[in-house]
Amino acid sequence: MTHTSEEFKEILLTEEQILARLEEMAAEIDRDYQGREVLLVGVLKGAIMVMADLSRMLTTPISMDWMAVSSYGSGTKSSGVVRILKDLDTDLTGRHVLIVEDIIDSGLTLSWLASNLRSRGAASLEIAALFRKPASIQVEVDVKYVGFDIPSEFVVGYGLDWNEQYRNLRFLATLSQHVYAE
Ligand code: PRP
Repeated sequence: MTHTSEEFKEILLTEEQILARLEEMAAEIDRDYQGREVLLVGVLKGAIMVMADLSRMLTTPISMDWMAVSSYGSGTKSSGVVRILKDLDTDLTGRHVLIVEDIIDSGLTLSWLASNLRSRGAASLEIAALFRKPASIQVEVDVKYVGFDIPSEFVVGYGLDWNEQYRNLRFLATLSQHVYAE
């Protein structure tokens, strides 16, 4: 089975656009941290592609850790209450933490995560998110590095999935209606 162009309604961002923006974000991060070691915290699973590409563009020394989180209930995230499925292995005391996310939708996940990590004694805590849907925001999150503002449509690719598929696409696309209907 191969992906076909009929599966996608529109390519919102190409691989070239994504990588070019990530280079700009990496340059900004390098400038801001000036050689201080940064702990990149990736949020599974969507952030894996951003983490892989962004981290390799940085010249600042980094270490990497991962969290897996899930919202309670039906998975609609409406409660904003998040459960930790996999916690960090790293003690955050005195560390410069940069959360790396693929997308901010309602903002509930990051809002919760940022306050959770802030309580662990980090020297600093900032957020980098490649995509943001401004029209979907329910809670304001202070995101220092944002890649692209995108429309509030269902998007896949570059880490983002539909039923665990499409994460490996190099671009960001909206899905055709018939994919949902099948
Ligand atoms: C996505 C994304 C963020 C969250 C953003 O993860 O990676 O973590 O949703 O949504 P919010 O701003 O409305 O809280 P998802 O729960 O789909 O898991 P995944 O990364 O494993 O695909």
